Formats: sequence, C-alpha cells, structure tokens
Amino acid sequence: MSATGQVKRLMPPDIRARKGETPLVVLTAYTTPVARLVDPHCDIVLVGDSVGMVVHGLPSTLGVTMEMMILHGQAVARGLTRAMMVIDMPFGSYEESPEQAFRNAARLMTETGAASVKLEGGVHMAPTIAYLTQRGIPVMAHIGLTPQAVNTLGGYRVQGRGKDADRIRHDAKAVAGAGAYSVVLEKVPDGLAAEITRKVDIPTVGIGASAQCDGQVLVVDDMLGLFTSFRPKFVKRYAELGIAADEAIAAYAAEVRARSFPAPEHVFGEEPAKP
Ligand code: KIV
Repeated sequence: MSATGQVKRLMPPDIRARKGETPLVVLTAYTTPVARLVDPHCDIVLVGDSVGMVVHGLPSTLGVTMEMMILHGQAVARGLTRAMMVIDMPFGSYEESPEQAFRNAARLMTETGAASVKLEGGVHMAPTIAYLTQRGIPVMAHIGLTPQAVNTLGGYRVQGRGKDADRIRHDAKAVAGAGAYSVVLEKVPDGLAAEITRKVDIPTVGIGASAQCDGQVLVVDDMLGLFTSFRPKFVKRYAELGIAADEAIAAYAAEVRARSFPAPEHVFGEEPAKP
C-alpha cells in the first residue's frame, strides 16, 4: 500500500528483489474476468502466447500474432490493479534482429500497458535481451522447453537431461548476464532447476521444473481443470471446472428440452412486479 492508500503496482525491480525470498506466484490470463480473479493472488500475471492454443484452439503457439497478443493484453490490463503484467513476444516478432525485437516489444508495452515482455531463448537471444534492457524494456527470459521451438526440439519434451544439462546452464547464465530480471525454466529436471536457481542471481520461475525455483507459473485454464482431456504431469489441478461446466451445460440442455427452463421466476409479465 502506498502513502495515498493506493495498492502499489509491482515492477520488474520488485520482482528482481524477490530472489531467494517468498516464492513468486505467477498465472496466465487472457481475459478481463480471469485477470480480475487472479490479480489479488498473483505477483505476476502473464499474457502468455499459450493464448493461441488455450483460447483460439491453435495446434501450437507458432500462429500467434502481435495483434492477438495486443488484444488479449489490453483485456487483461483492464482486470489488474496490483499484479505486474508481463506479455509474451509471439513467434517471429523478435528473432530477426535486436531492432525488430525493440520495435515489437515497445509496441506490446505501449499498446497494452505491460511492464515487461517475455521472450524465448538462451545464449542465442542474449544480445537481443541486452539490447532491449539497455533501452528501457525489462525482459523475462524463458529457457528449457521453449514451445515456439517445438519443431526444432522435436516435441514438448523435458530439456536438459544428462549431457544436455550444460546447454541449459549456459542459457541461464547468458540471459542473467544479458540483463533479464527473471527467467522461466520450463520442463527442466528438478535437480538442474534447483542448481540453476542457486547459481543465477535473478529469480527463476518454474513450470514443470522444481519447488526450489524462486517462483512458479501455470496456465490458469490448466490448473482450474478446464480441459478434461489434457493432463500433463507438471500441472496440479486445483479445481475441476471442466467437469463442473460439462454438468451445468448438460443440465441446461435437459431443462430446455423438457421446457422446465425458463421457470416462472425467469420470465417477465405484462406489468412490472409491485415493489
Ligand atoms: O505462454 C505461456 O503461457 C507461457 C508459460 C507457460 C510460461 O509461456
């Protein structure tokens, strides 16, 4: 709370200062009502490019556009008062050059009000991360399983097992050295994620990684159980809203067919009811 009684908006330096402190709570949101639900509980709300798969039914995040991110970013911003908003840079919007990344990151931030962008990639994206951070664009990095590279990685597999661990170590070191204020570790073995968390001086945010990370992130629709058939190991389902929704919709359909909905209390007479 600030001196004026207003809730203090978290900013990237506040998140950076949480290294080794109380774990950071991060969830995705793509709409205003969900942003309102998660805002009181989260430090960071991520407008993830997972929006493409979760909301738009795309087969991967590759088809997500700047326009989609901006539209969903604007919707989420309307629902937040406290949590810091981070927005994903979609595939193809930053890889070409640091200048391209700056142009699109600036657009995402100015048109949505996000405090930071997130982008995927380690060693090879370090020069771009440095370019952005030196020009007023805070960057959350994302290494390990980077879903935009699904075709190169050959699927959504755990990254960094065995001899491959050094690649992830180098990525973590490179993004921290380039100025990222935090880094998402996705689908990295528990022990490696814990080791990286001890070694880098920026907060790590795990998804399918380790309880030792400095924070955790989940896709909100996954942890609410909105998908009845998608059950990855790393997602704990804190509710079964998909099942609850199916039951509610089935009850509605049965009542409509039986003409028991709408009931008298749901319809209007000629005259307004007397107070
Ligand atoms: O797009 C997304 O939702 C993400 C999180 C899963 C980290 O990148």
